[in-house]
Amino acid sequence: MHVHPALRGVSWPAHAQALDAGDLTHLTSLLAATPDLWRGLVHHDPERRWYEQVVLTEAIEVWLIGWTPGQFTPPHDHGGAQGSFAVAAGELVEDVYHGPDLVNAGRFVHAAGSAVGLGAGHVHRVANEGRVNATSVHAYSPPGMRMRHHAATVTDLLERARRRLRRLRPAEAARQIEEGALLVDIRPAAQREREGAIPEAIVLERNVLEWRLDPSSPWRIPEVLGHSQEMIVICSEGYTSSLAAAALQDLGLRRATDVIGGYQAWARAGLPVIGGLAYVPASRSTTGASSSGSWPPARVQ
Ligand SMILES: [Fe+2]
Repeated sequence: MHVHPALRGVSWPAHAQALDAGDLTHLTSLLAATPDLWRGLVHHDPERRWYEQVVLTEAIEVWLIGWTPGQFTPPHDHGGAQGSFAVAAGELVEDVYHGPDLVNAGRFVHAAGSAVGLGAGHVHRVANEGRVNATSVHAYSPPGMRMRHHAATVTDLLERARRRLRRLRPAEAARQIEEGALLVDIRPAAQREREGAIPEAIVLERNVLEWRLDPSSPWRIPEVLGHSQEMIVICSEGYTSSLAAAALQDLGLRRATDVIGGYQAWARAGLPVIGGLAYVPASRSTTGASSSGSWPPARVQ
């Protein structure tokens, strides 16, 4: 039995007994409403989600969790335990998943003061999507059941990738390109034909990206100068480009990033394009598509 000294004034269920989600919700609600007991224990660390087990008896385990903005858990269950969490400060968003295929069954916003019961089969993902720190109190019974992680969702991958990037608005990207950054267009040919092209961009489709940009790769393009080079990835709407830029950072290209809103935002901002969204008819085709445009193109201001 372990009870943090700060919480020894509370009488904890000590003997082996299964508490249900209702009992646990009662308990987390009470604890969340008495922050004077535990406030001094809580940390909020922007580098990693902070958590500490403050109570462990034969009946129950209790955790405090500190969430800075943007922190989240991957989808997980609680190893068959019943549980509850209560939000003591800030706000948490919970995605709940059902069935073997983990279909998203709903999204719930839990404000400070609310508490949720978690049945034994509850699978969820919890995130602080607010702008301020959040703090929550969690209880599980029986204790010691290992939480099982489920596959990350594409939303998780995207959030994880973007936390590593200093993403650029189109106009910022254009300025960086003028100062020597490499703009890499990863859209597939069909999309470039339909949407148009960016004259400054080097076209490298997603399936060859790492081989062409890794400075140590024998298949790298001659424009690659080294790991400290700034590389800006652009796709159609700025989603895949975030994942691609994170993959480049994994290769040591620490200044890899992407364009917020992708090509579509670039074109809407009136930055130079050929064909597609800002198509100006001219005499010669350069994109290999049915559209045509002059090369080198006049800047579309
Ligand atoms: Fe959980």
